[in-house]
Amino acid sequence: MAESINTNMVPKYKLATGEEIPCIGMGTFGSDRFTPEQVSRAVAGAIRCGYRMFDCAAIYENEALIGEVFHRAFAEGVVRREELFITSKVWNNMHGQGDVLLSCAKTLRDLRLNYIDAFFVHWPFPNYHAPGCDADSRNPDSKPFSIDRFMATWRQMERLHDMGLARNLGMSNMTIPKLEAVLPLCRIKPTVMEIELHPCFQQQALFDYLMEQGIRPIGFCPVGSPTRPERDRTPDDIADTQVAEVMEIAKTHRVHPAVVCIKWAVQRGQIPIPFSVYQNEYVSNLKSTITDPLSDVEMALLKTADRNCRLIKGQVFLWPGAGDWHDLWDEEGTITK
Ligand SMILES: NC(=O)c1ccc[n+]([C@@H]2O[C@H](COP(=O)([O-])OP(=O)(O)OC[C@H]3O[C@@H](n4cnc5c(N)ncnc54)[C@H](OP(=O)(O)O)[C@@H]3O)[C@@H](O)[C@H]2O)c1
Repeated sequence: MAESINTNMVPKYKLATGEEIPCIGMGTFGSDRFTPEQVSRAVAGAIRCGYRMFDCAAIYENEALIGEVFHRAFAEGVVRREELFITSKVWNNMHGQGDVLLSCAKTLRDLRLNYIDAFFVHWPFPNYHAPGCDADSRNPDSKPFSIDRFMATWRQMERLHDMGLARNLGMSNMTIPKLEAVLPLCRIKPTVMEIELHPCFQQQALFDYLMEQGIRPIGFCPVGSPTRPERDRTPDDIADTQVAEVMEIAKTHRVHPAVVCIKWAVQRGQIPIPFSVYQNEYVSNLKSTITDPLSDVEMALLKTADRNCRLIKGQVFLWPGAGDWHDLWDEEGTITK
């Protein structure tokens, strides 16, 4: 029997909409490595252990099986719908007129829900790659970011909110220059923002900007995504679980370095969404939010673990004529065209 954690003890935040969101969720991207069966089994186990937030997406190609798990958990009285915070995302090939609504409808059907707690624009451009592609794969139809195109997509997101189908709206993989351009144009502002955040990639300026705007950051790859697909690996990547600062603190607390990454994320204020199909791992991740916090000195030490090491570089989304992956991230402070 799995260890179950008292969910009432897991801290929550209030979003700008007034809705509550747990301080930790579970990721569901199988990284082309774990099957939908493995991932959905982990979701079922995680609900029983006390997880109340799940980060889904159409492109993870497992929403139908995860939907069965939710359906069964509600039917068996393991949890009530209103106790879960479930997110999903529109994939890059569904940004066109009417497509965002279709995408949300399919996700709701697959997840067997009648509303989603937060719906995200997964990437801020309509550039997509085939599932399981390699790092050199490029789509000749890819385009640079355009404010007009993004806002046309966002208007559809706003309609989903109007219709009560999406209770919160979110963006993902954004930068400060892009946000400065689009936030003033939003009739309904995002309340959550999913971005890459882990000790070796802290994005302090973007984190501060979001907090100032009242937008809660959700941190993906919180453990440094050791099982990420091959296309997302380069020789210069640094493993968060192997940097001295993280390892030293893990030794003091007698936990796996991954758990230190989660504690750091929660105490900093972003919502980590660690993935694991292993019960001992996902239980330790949830438990880490309610036991044995890091000290101020340890938090200060972890601040120095930042290596500005982006793992999900997004090179497969580059458009013809673009330079390298840095062009996706507006590093010069203006939107790269
Ligand atoms: N919005 C976006 O564009 C975007 C992009 C990427 C990811 N995401 C979301 O973020 C979620 C998390 O990211 P991710 O899956 O790439 O990376 P991650 O959560 O940082 O890493 C997952 C891996 O970390 C290891 N791990 C997790 N907990 C552990 C523990 N307690 N002890 C030891 N090892 C542990 C597991 O590896 P082992 O199996 O080797 O133990 C697991 O496969 C995804 O599932 C997805 O929902 C969103």
